[in-house]
Amino acid sequence: MSDSDGKSMKRARKILEHPVYQKYAKKIAHHEKSRKFCGHDMTHFLNVARIAMLLNLEENAEPIRKDWIYGAALLHDIGRFVQYEDGTDHALASAKLAPGILKDCGYSEEEIKMISEAIANHRNKDIKDGSDLKGILYRADKASRPCYGCQMQSACNWKKKKKNMKLEI
Ligand SMILES: [Fe+2]
Ligand SMILES: [Fe+2]
Repeated sequence: MSDSDGKSMKRARKILEHPVYQKYAKKIAHHEKSRKFCGHDMTHFLNVARIAMLLNLEENAEPIRKDWIYGAALLHDIGRFVQYEDGTDHALASAKLAPGILKDCGYSEEEIKMISEAIANHRNKDIKDGSDLKGILYRADKASRPCYGCQMQSACNWKKKKKNMKLEI
């Protein structure tokens, strides 16, 4: 992994401490206070990050940097509150909100572009098979939802084909 400098999680940790990140996370929590379906909280963000890391280590001979994966996972749904407020697709809203936070946390312009592109595409199934950041984020996000054990399964609006009905990772 190209993060052997030992600083691989420093920038990702900064995201969690960022006041704007915390403000957006609170807004999501407010909108999801009585939501019975899957939420978009820290548990979800970290599940996505960790599953993405597993896929990354399993699939990539030269793994993607950990702080790119955590950056993408921690921010991929951060615009969910915008979707609650005005109906904007949250993948696009998140991709718009992420760059400012990533910049403050020390990610370069090039890294920000790549991470934002992965975030913008996290619901685009055309890219799901790639072993790049985009493909890994898409599949980790989906795999993070344990539909096979969910009490809300029959009421959920995910199409039958989209639901995870067997444990994969
Ligand atoms: Fe999402
Ligand atoms: Fe998600």
